[in-house]
Amino acid sequence: MTGAGNEARAMTTPAQTDAIEALLTEGRTFPPPPAFAAQANAQPGIHEEAERDYQAFWKSWADKLEWMTPPTQILEWNEPFARWFADGELNASVNALDRHVRAGKAAKVAFYYEGEPGDRWSVTYGELLDEVCRFANGLRALGVKKGDRVAIYMPMIVELPVAMLACARIGAAHSVIFGGFSPDAIVDRVNDSGCVALITADHGWRRGNKVPLKANCDEAFARGMPTLKHVVVAKRIGDEVNMTEGRDVWWDDVVRDQPSTCEPERMNAEDLLYLLYTSGTTAKPKGIKHTTGGYLTGVTATHKLVFDLKEDADVYWCAADIGWVTGHSYIVYGPLCNGATSVIYEGTPDYPDKDRLWEIVERYKVTILYTAPTAIRTFMKWGTQYVEKHDLSSLRLLGSVGEPINPEAWMWYHTHIGGGRCPVVDTWWQTETGAIMITPLPGITTLKPGSATKPFPGVQADLVNETGESVPLGGGGYIVLRRPWPSMLRGIYGDDDRYRETYWSKFPHLYLAGDGCKRDADGDFWFLGRIDDVMNVSGHRISTTEVESALVDHPAVAEAAVTGKNDDITGQAICAFVTLKSHATGSEELANALRDHVAEKLGKFCRPKYLTFTQELPKTRSGKIMRRLLRDIAEGRMLGDTTTLADSSVVAELQNRAKDEA
Ligand code: WTA
Repeated sequence: MTGAGNEARAMTTPAQTDAIEALLTEGRTFPPPPAFAAQANAQPGIHEEAERDYQAFWKSWADKLEWMTPPTQILEWNEPFARWFADGELNASVNALDRHVRAGKAAKVAFYYEGEPGDRWSVTYGELLDEVCRFANGLRALGVKKGDRVAIYMPMIVELPVAMLACARIGAAHSVIFGGFSPDAIVDRVNDSGCVALITADHGWRRGNKVPLKANCDEAFARGMPTLKHVVVAKRIGDEVNMTEGRDVWWDDVVRDQPSTCEPERMNAEDLLYLLYTSGTTAKPKGIKHTTGGYLTGVTATHKLVFDLKEDADVYWCAADIGWVTGHSYIVYGPLCNGATSVIYEGTPDYPDKDRLWEIVERYKVTILYTAPTAIRTFMKWGTQYVEKHDLSSLRLLGSVGEPINPEAWMWYHTHIGGGRCPVVDTWWQTETGAIMITPLPGITTLKPGSATKPFPGVQADLVNETGESVPLGGGGYIVLRRPWPSMLRGIYGDDDRYRETYWSKFPHLYLAGDGCKRDADGDFWFLGRIDDVMNVSGHRISTTEVESALVDHPAVAEAAVTGKNDDITGQAICAFVTLKSHATGSEELANALRDHVAEKLGKFCRPKYLTFTQELPKTRSGKIMRRLLRDIAEGRMLGDTTTLADSSVVAELQNRAKDEA
């Protein structure tokens, strides 16, 4: 597998070359509107100021948090392990809630909640604090304590941020598992970090269907999760679910009789706040570690400056799922630490109709909207009639995240959603970086459709070539980060070697993000997509090897190779090539059965869109699968160098089959 990974890590794929050429022709620029600039949180000179002393810059943001013991230290860098503000003590839930309540903002709305079926209510900072305290007390009563890990597998309901903050309050690290994952994914994640409790809900709503979250947990249990002692079940729908005596408890019973005050744990700045698993280049997901003080510093600073948040005027909406890092940093921790009023929406953009998002913007007079390019391309396809039905004049700033945004989608977003008046911030970052790293600062930065523009103040990013030398402006290369930043991952849970190997080994002293990127003559960054075996489908990171493992797990499959294929809507689509065992024959039925099998093993969002049966997979003479060649075939391109191919007839067969499919 290592060999195949290296082969796919070659600098630019042909698709990226096409992308570079397309981007080079993009010349439109959008200077900051003067009225926006005049009131912006970020003022000119901030990049230079941070550059003069980046540690002092970050410390000034750390000082805005509420500390139980204020830090005197800033950075301890024992490459690749960082400790930020390491003699400070604080509690994340106090920063998110208590501090605003004490400042007289108990009655301020923290979240406007919009359920998919149309149920809606709002939660104030005061109510949120009460709920967090009661649930934190409940967790303590169950025996959960500081230093434990707690898994959370929930739909987008208010109990989800409540559960996260309750964990933070008592010093237990949360590990949120996206509600679209399957039972196997729960088992892997719970067992990898030895979670003691699992918090879930009876069901969730998705496009009018019930997602059986509790039943998925039961299935996961049947496969073995020996460290789990308790399952707490919130009621979303109120249906009957199986409850196992002695193990499963209802959320309502956990909080009943609990007081609405709860002494927060004093946490060291470097104590674990959460784990979040993300796909890597192997089949085993990585438990990314984030600690308390640096993470809160990073998300608070970026949320305030990138989104220009005005605490008392804005209604902010990040339309992501809390199950991914975007939701952790920019639905929960960043906005709450900044005292924002936000929207949480449970469901999909097309339920009950394709104007749902715009209806929500109009209802709550949303001023800042943060979403993903996949969604924007989908809205483009649906057409402007859904947008035009609603008054979107409250919007003043738009954001994009999760994958490269193509200039046409950027322009459409700017014109049709932003009415031509709202700056669009294209924000590049990762689960590992914890917070936004490359981004415009609205009010300062001249925008270019398709470019994430410049590193955030204090961040030092660069592009390097295969030998690790900096690539001059105008060229493309691997994006690397040259110095530590407060919200950076502190490692991979239980696997320091993998942390070093994945991020710090290819180039000495440089953090390797795994993305290809180009920089123009002005020094603006243009992202080109992953350079490793990770696909980006609708903004979800999916490992090719994980999908391959799920396929070969099926009794009919001998071997499988998976690649991402360019897709107009989802960015990439999953494309699988499968060889069967001798007893099986390829048919449409079997192809669907294999797709379902992957969906069951990993989650529906991992279902391969394309699946081709083949007698052989193209391999090098040393037996490595040639993924790049498969991607060329999938995308119908002229093939590059195939001289290392062991059996050239394989390619002809594959090309024919892929054509039939398209
Ligand atoms: C991709 C999501 C281009 C990138 C926050 C990165 C982007 C991966 C952008 C991280 C962007 C994210 N432009 N690509 N603005 N934002 N990416 O961990 O490939 O789910 O490495 O974090 O998404 O995905 P993750």
